[in-house]
Amino acid sequence: MFNDTDIVLAEKRLVGEKAADFIKEGMIVGLGTGSTVYYTMQKLGRMVKEGLNISAVSTSLSTSTLAKELGIPLKSLNEVSRIDITIDGADEVDYMFRGIKGGGGALLFEKIVAYYSDQNIWVIDSGKYVSKLGKFPLPVEVIPMGYIQFLKKMQENNYKCVLRKNEKDIFKTDSGNVIIDVNIEKVTDYQEFNHWLLNIPGVVETGLFLDVVDKIIMPDKNDVKILIKDK
Ligand code: 5RP
Repeated sequence: MFNDTDIVLAEKRLVGEKAADFIKEGMIVGLGTGSTVYYTMQKLGRMVKEGLNISAVSTSLSTSTLAKELGIPLKSLNEVSRIDITIDGADEVDYMFRGIKGGGGALLFEKIVAYYSDQNIWVIDSGKYVSKLGKFPLPVEVIPMGYIQFLKKMQENNYKCVLRKNEKDIFKTDSGNVIIDVNIEKVTDYQEFNHWLLNIPGVVETGLFLDVVDKIIMPDKNDVKILIKDK
């Protein structure tokens, strides 16, 4: 008997491994962060061992560590002329291909790598495909200086929010910033809200990825389906 976690893990493996099929000889590959891309990377590691020649650009320290363990060759973003394809996870995606990312705290590097990628593929388990964004709180990366003022500003504007913490301390991103998770259930115009956030000094990036993804790979019964965004 499977419990929910087993089912979600099986879905992550299914979609994560499927995404590796899009990686071809000679490509520069952006590697996202998280437990779904983990399976893409496991498969990619096997493909590299079997002779596939690629270079990867990582979106986090944790992804870089895993890539090194798996023998996936890494380059920095500054060393490549462009990125052919980036494979990443997401925390929520709606039918308009808009997403929330940053559950793992890597939103800044993920957004940068995605921006310079010719093609972006997201791999998601079925629970992440939603009719409206916002059940998952929006991660907002803020520099440590004055982040309490940002929390107050959100609260004054009636947005519930929390400072992200880990077991012992305040969570810090790979860039040394903090993350404030903002409840955006009442937001309807994501573009406008994103601009408003980005105009607040100290905000480095938000987890709203509004015009980024080209293909979504998600479970469909025991197989996968691939949703392709109209150009
Ligand atoms: C990290 C992310 C991840 O892609 C997102 O949190 C999904 O992670 P997972 O595949 O572990 O569910 O945005 O910053």
